[in-house]
Amino acid sequence: DKDGWDTFMEKEIHEQPEAVRATLEGRLDAKGALTLDEVRIPESLLRSVDKVVIIACGTAAYAGQVARYAIEHWCRIPVEVELAHEFRYRDPVVNEKTLVVAISQSGETMDTIMAIRHAREQGARVVSIVNTPGSTIARESDAVLLTHAGPEIAVASTKAFTAQITACYLLGLYLAQIRGNKYIDEIHDYLDKLAQIPDKMQEVLDSGESVRQIARAMADEESVLFLGRHVGYPVAMEGALKLKEIAYIHAEGFAAGELKHGPIALVEEGQPVFIVVPTPRRPELHQKTVSNVQQVKARGAKTMVIAEVGDDSVDEYADIVFRVPPAPTLYLPLLQVMPLQIFACALAGAKGLDVDQPRNLAKSVTVE
Ligand code: F6R
Repeated sequence: DKDGWDTFMEKEIHEQPEAVRATLEGRLDAKGALTLDEVRIPESLLRSVDKVVIIACGTAAYAGQVARYAIEHWCRIPVEVELAHEFRYRDPVVNEKTLVVAISQSGETMDTIMAIRHAREQGARVVSIVNTPGSTIARESDAVLLTHAGPEIAVASTKAFTAQITACYLLGLYLAQIRGNKYIDEIHDYLDKLAQIPDKMQEVLDSGESVRQIARAMADEESVLFLGRHVGYPVAMEGALKLKEIAYIHAEGFAAGELKHGPIALVEEGQPVFIVVPTPRRPELHQKTVSNVQQVKARGAKTMVIAEVGDDSVDEYADIVFRVPPAPTLYLPLLQVMPLQIFACALAGAKGLDVDQPRNLAKSVTVE
């Protein structure tokens, strides 16, 4: 049931504030401390973990890349993010002190299942972040942290992605709490700010029409580039994946810092480039990314910038600016990804494509 929306994808994009809210709900105990009761790995074991390895595929792997910045910052544990199908065959260094975090919407992705089996054979504990209770990945993990995004029908993942990132933040804060990396006040402050994100996501949705208008006018584009820095880098990758999947447009995501190491050669007159700009409250990230906008603009790019409300430093070099409300840097991906999802969905719609059932793709990839 599409609830009045033309496509499941649009419906699911608009369900994201609720998906994030539901994923956060009920995670605080009576004393206000973070509890994750699905995590049934002894605290003593979690305290001894010396490495986190996140395994996933596709969009779920980009959620994992966002999580890496948060978990390393909060917990001071090294975090690796690896595509499940690469992890398995690499002979990875994994042992009893490794915490493997498997992320999957369906819980049935064969590549991820095989990677979990491989990790457990080496003695690692596995926490899975899945959207489907009772799925194979949930059953084969030592602990499960459910995303409460509700069923995702459209092949292209949207609300599962933001719910996965949210669950990863909870796991990161939980680890920081039990390992004593952060004071409880600090953890509460992060949780309070996380609880404010769904309302901010709604604000982004409320301004979606401006994104749709631009997208509809770009139905003839053949290539779109996406740049991001820090947590904006996986957001750029995800924006590019959405466009490939449903609009069949050649799209590439890059770390903004890589621009001068190669990709800038692609930029010619009229080339559309999305740039995910960090908050100006992190000047070391922000200034460099604004320079990247300037560099591609100088080579004739059509610059489409995602920037915080009130950040007018981008105006001079941006052809189009999509605004997101201010939020802590680590949480910005939840807001910044939404204009990119809306863009891909509207552009595919304008091309007359089947947004929910793109060619050659299946919702669950149950073969390797
Ligand atoms: C992208 C997409 C895929 C999945 C990937 C993993 O929109 O849907 O890239 O994210 O196949 O699937 P799950 O999360 O079910 O393991």
